[in-house]
Amino acid sequence: MSAAPRTVLVTGAGSGIGRAVAEAFGAAGDRVVVADVNRAAADEVAAGIGEAALAVTMDVTDRASVVAAVAEASERFGPVEVLVNNAGLAGGGGPLIDLPAEVFDLVLAVNLRGTFNVTQVVGRQMADSGRGRAIVNVSSIGARQPTPGLGHYEATKAAVDALTRTAALELAAHGIRVNGVAPGPVHTPMTAPLMDDAAARGAWEARIPLGRIAETGDLTPLVLFLASDQARHITGAVVQVDGGQLLV
Ligand SMILES: NC(=O)c1ccc[n+]([C@@H]2O[C@H](COP(=O)([O-])OP(=O)(O)OC[C@H]3O[C@@H](n4cnc5c(N)ncnc54)[C@H](O)[C@@H]3O)[C@@H](O)[C@H]2O)c1
Repeated sequence: MSAAPRTVLVTGAGSGIGRAVAEAFGAAGDRVVVADVNRAAADEVAAGIGEAALAVTMDVTDRASVVAAVAEASERFGPVEVLVNNAGLAGGGGPLIDLPAEVFDLVLAVNLRGTFNVTQVVGRQMADSGRGRAIVNVSSIGARQPTPGLGHYEATKAAVDALTRTAALELAAHGIRVNGVAPGPVHTPMTAPLMDDAAARGAWEARIPLGRIAETGDLTPLVLFLASDQARHITGAVVQVDGGQLLV
């Protein structure tokens, strides 16, 4: 159990990393808002966590949806104290010279504008309530290391890292810390098709000094740490969890 339960909002919490993060906060005794555009998935995750969880429908690309979901969450649990901006997608892939502009726009809307939308709405509430503690953004090592076919995705994550640093500077006066977690490849529903392909999986594994693809449980301790008062002097950092992939 954490010292005192906090109200924690996790976006994209219906699947993969977001789901594992929501469950970890729930296990630590916090009140968890399971926010996802996929309401059925959010309901299932919230039901698994129990009484201390609330599922809300939130499309991070749609400001009105974000405002409504945050209002619903606050009515039930009080103002948000910890935010995890996790919702994101790659939307497929392809070389930049062939990538459909629609894919670029979709990934930009979810990963970057979505992070901006939720940071703005929740950050404003955090500043006004005086209860805000921490924001953790889920980035990717792709922000710092290119992989052919993922340029559109990597550009959004590099921009998320820039938002992380600026938000950390701007919100410091309110006592709100803003950090990022940058995973390498992780086993989740997003990457399942890739991981099921032995050749593709082997190519990813060959890039990782520690020799394996991450599980979601490799990420959750860092997210909980960055959100906790133990990380009270850490802000504006983006920490990789990649088995050493950025070293090579
Ligand atoms: N899996 C990896 O290898 C990996 C690596 C680095 C970074 N990441 C990042 O981790 C985060 C989570 O990825 P994952 O692998 O768990 O993916 P996932 O597909 O398993 O889960 C993503 C969740 O986000 C939700 N979502 C999508 N669009 C949304 C929107 N507009 N509004 C609200 N929710 C929305 C989906 O419904 C889904 O529940 C993403 O930001 C991703 O870029 C993943």
